[in-house]
Amino acid sequence: MSTYILGIESSCDDTSAAVSSDTKILANVIANQDIHRKFGGVVPELASRAHQQNIIPVIDIALKEANITKNDLSAIAFTRGPGLLGSLLVGTSFAKSMAMGLGIPIIEVNHMHAHILAHFIDDDDRPEKPKFPFLCLTVSGGHTQIVLLRDYFDSEVIGQTIDDASGEAFDKAAKIMGLPYPGGPLIDKLAREGNPLAFSFPEPRIPGYDYSFSGLKTSFLYFLRDQLKEDDLFIEKNKEDLSASLQKTIIDILMAKLEKAAHDLDIKNIAIAGGVSANSGLRNTLLEARDRLGWRVFIPRFEYCTDNAAMIAVTGYFKYLRGEFAGQDIAPYARQQ
Ligand code: KG4
Ligand code: ZN
Repeated sequence: MSTYILGIESSCDDTSAAVSSDTKILANVIANQDIHRKFGGVVPELASRAHQQNIIPVIDIALKEANITKNDLSAIAFTRGPGLLGSLLVGTSFAKSMAMGLGIPIIEVNHMHAHILAHFIDDDDRPEKPKFPFLCLTVSGGHTQIVLLRDYFDSEVIGQTIDDASGEAFDKAAKIMGLPYPGGPLIDKLAREGNPLAFSFPEPRIPGYDYSFSGLKTSFLYFLRDQLKEDDLFIEKNKEDLSASLQKTIIDILMAKLEKAAHDLDIKNIAIAGGVSANSGLRNTLLEARDRLGWRVFIPRFEYCTDNAAMIAVTGYFKYLRGEFAGQDIAPYARQQ
């Protein structure tokens, strides 16, 4: 008999509910919050209110799409953190009360870990799963990490950003260029029409496997400020080349440390995860590294890159098998634990 898990994700600005049957995904519903667009970034208080409005319809649709009823569920998995506290509280409280009403257990899930375990979702197009040990470059709006996975629940962050995340670097550069939030996907689109060698930006010198992106943002800002003094249409005229050059710099920074870690640890199974792993330039660069370095690479489906509850449901399933349930007194956390 299958184990049906309801996954709930509410860590940032997307309300998502998914239903899994073992490692298969039967439904993965996401309500995006448009309200933040006009503010150029996520407004936490508005995000939690929107989660409150969306959560019941999103879960309702997910159960209908999965063609099961709430009484068929074995457990409810929810994102405990990291993320925006007010937003996490909506998903956590809902999971607790729904599970209490149904008399089933709840399972807490770490959002960043779930991004990685999304690779184990059953997928006909991706029958091969990462073999342990593997390295995962986890790149999102809030995090940039190189994680060593020895097993599903045996992982170690071996490198991470000391300031901005790579997704933030995309979003902040886009904002400087006057593009709407979130800027990552727009830069990706513009970059396809531009020359990545048109402009060059400095790369940081950080020891070990750690990253830094705040210097890039500052040099991008100063470069544009200087150019705009000469030509106030500079951004408009060069937005494709600017996007391509910026994207190339971010990818070069990400890849240098990933290659170093893979070399030092002698690991050739390499995965990417998180919102920035949707970036077409990063995906292509990883394929190129596969051919050059003999890596085996794992690139998630687009819908499992950015925030989604499918990854929460499947992580919940693996914890369900281990009997790892949470108590009703559990509280969300904003920062990585
Ligand atoms: O994982 P995610 O959906 O949310 C967080 O956990 O933060 O990641 C969102 C981030 C944003 O910074 C967004 O701009 C970036 O992922 N992103 C992209 C692309 N799609 C999303 N960045 C570059 N290229 C993309 N195609
Ligand atoms: Zn995320």
